[in-house]
Amino acid sequence: VRLRDATTADVPALAELVMRCDATHRSWAPRMRLPSLAEELAGWRVRLDRPSGDVVVAEDDGVLAGAAAWAPARGRHGGDTGPLHPGLGHVSAVFVDPGHWRRGIARTLLAELETRMRAAGCDRARLWTLEGSPAERLYSAAGWRRSGERGHHDPTDLPIVGYVRSLDA
Ligand SMILES: CC(C)(COP(=O)(O)OP(=O)(O)OC[C@H]1O[C@@H](n2cnc3c(N)ncnc32)[C@H](O)[C@@H]1OP(=O)(O)O)[C@@H](O)C(=O)NCCC(=O)NCCS
Repeated sequence: VRLRDATTADVPALAELVMRCDATHRSWAPRMRLPSLAEELAGWRVRLDRPSGDVVVAEDDGVLAGAAAWAPARGRHGGDTGPLHPGLGHVSAVFVDPGHWRRGIARTLLAELETRMRAAGCDRARLWTLEGSPAERLYSAAGWRRSGERGHHDPTDLPIVGYVRSLDA
């Protein structure tokens, strides 16, 4: 796969990618709320509009196969409100198209974000993920650990857990 920075032209494809990913959560979280296309479109516009951080896409033969994003951490959950936490990067998205799972694409995207967060002066990173999701196994395998923090993800109406990792070499 080839990695590149996302542009606003990618927003529709990114939103559709997340819709396909979201649909797979129903297999382990049947009661989850499925966010609408409009919500997903808005979410990617917000990520791309942030003055700092990166949105990176992975392409396989020119086809969008995955995407991931980070921004300087603010407040408790995200990258937009609350006090800035110096040195802390916030991973706001990691999505791989279901047709491309288990080929190392998420691991590659996370490694790229980690390189970029370090280059931006971060020494540690955090993220939130759905409790009990397959993504928890990805983060454990990629060197992240649960922080012990818990929260609620309003778009899906599911519980979330915090993960952290050091970015020291
Ligand atoms: C979670 C997700 C990003 C993983 O993407 P991926 O490209 O398939 O992951 P990788 O191939 O890089 O996996 C790396 C390692 O993570 C672990 N892992 C990843 N997905 C796993 C799964 N479904 N079950 C168990 N372990 C998994 C494995 O250790 C894997 O290594 P291996 O394949 O050699 O065993 C993908 O399944 C996805 O997009 N899911 C839906 C969206 C989502 O939950 N995103 C996270 C939101 S916070």
